[in-house]
Amino acid sequence: TGKHRVAVIGSGNWGSVASRLLASNTAKLPSFHDEVRMWVFEETLPTGEKLSESINQAHENCKYLPGIKLGTNVIADPDLESAVKDADMLVFVTPHQFVEGICKKLVGKLRPGVEAISLIKGMEVKMEGPCMISKLITDTLGINCCVLMGANIANEIAVEKFSEATIGYREDKEAANRWAKLFTTPYFLVSVVEDIEGVELCGTLKNVVAIAAGFVDGLDMGNNTKAAIMRIGLREMRAFSKLLFPSVRDNTFFESCVGGRNRRVAEAFARNGGKRSFDELEAEMLHGQKLQGVSTAREVYEVLTYHGWQELFPLLSTVHEICIGQLPPTSIVEYSEHTPNLS
Ligand code: NAD
Ligand code: 13P
Repeated sequence: TGKHRVAVIGSGNWGSVASRLLASNTAKLPSFHDEVRMWVFEETLPTGEKLSESINQAHENCKYLPGIKLGTNVIADPDLESAVKDADMLVFVTPHQFVEGICKKLVGKLRPGVEAISLIKGMEVKMEGPCMISKLITDTLGINCCVLMGANIANEIAVEKFSEATIGYREDKEAANRWAKLFTTPYFLVSVVEDIEGVELCGTLKNVVAIAAGFVDGLDMGNNTKAAIMRIGLREMRAFSKLLFPSVRDNTFFESCVGGRNRRVAEAFARNGGKRSFDELEAEMLHGQKLQGVSTAREVYEVLTYHGWQELFPLLSTVHEICIGQLPPTSIVEYSEHTPNLS
């Protein structure tokens, strides 16, 4: 029929909200099939019911997005292959550590000409260097992949609070515009830029800065310190991105996102003086949702160590050293005495 079919790979907090938003548009826009297939990493709920069945019955994800109706045209599917088999537009939105395994399972299972977009914040570090998630998807599956990132706390978009996001693309502007059409709603403004690495690194690295901001909150250091940490963090994000990808543009760096889970759990970590691990706090505070900032800090640290750049990026390095218990949370401000001028 020529209509596009959308599948969403992932059904956590943002995965569920993205599915809801997309389904509200596919129901209205004539160039898309109504149905949005959402792949669910299956689990059994305390009631004994399967999560995917519960979603299809209640039209609600009671574990990762309780209290919000997804729309009757969101269909949960626990079988990855079946979820993607008819789709020509794939939305990747899982925690970044699972993407590689998922892509391997999808090899040879996709329709020809399928387009992808990644809403995932994170990166993988390989022998050859850092690999952004969109590139991992492109390289493993041989498909074009845009990214969509922004200061987008899923729970706020779920209740339609006005937000905006940026789509980054490489070369294929037409594909990027199609994604923009699919994601845009009156409460979700989408712009498009030809700077995929800039957009993706911005979304990814902000999670490390959000952890630093959380430490400052947990130590009750106040607003000036938090603003300083965020400015230094932004400067390091930009310098790091440009060292890795010289094509990254300055004006991509406007994201702020300290309202999320990374900041909140980092605050608790600092309040406990670093005595309880991030893993423990994540399990206790997030009920199955996943933090990306701690592993991203480790991945960034690997890149910094490999290039001998730690001294150039004291904030990014210190966040990792605090996360693994090598330094106390208070050292988040101590490094600034020897912060080099990166601008
Ligand atoms: P989440 O953290 O809420 O949920 C974790 C998800 O991982 C669940 O769906 C769970 O079923 C799944 N999972 C657990 N083990 C798995 C496995 N072995 N294989 C595959 N899946 C498994 O997820 P989310 O909030 O949708 O986050 C996805 C991505 O979106 C992350 O990169 C995050 O940074 C990004 N993001 C999130 C938000 C937000 O506000 N939640 C906003 C913007 C971007
Ligand atoms: P958290 O994962 O810290 O909640 O942040 C989500 C996000 O990336 C919003 O932009």
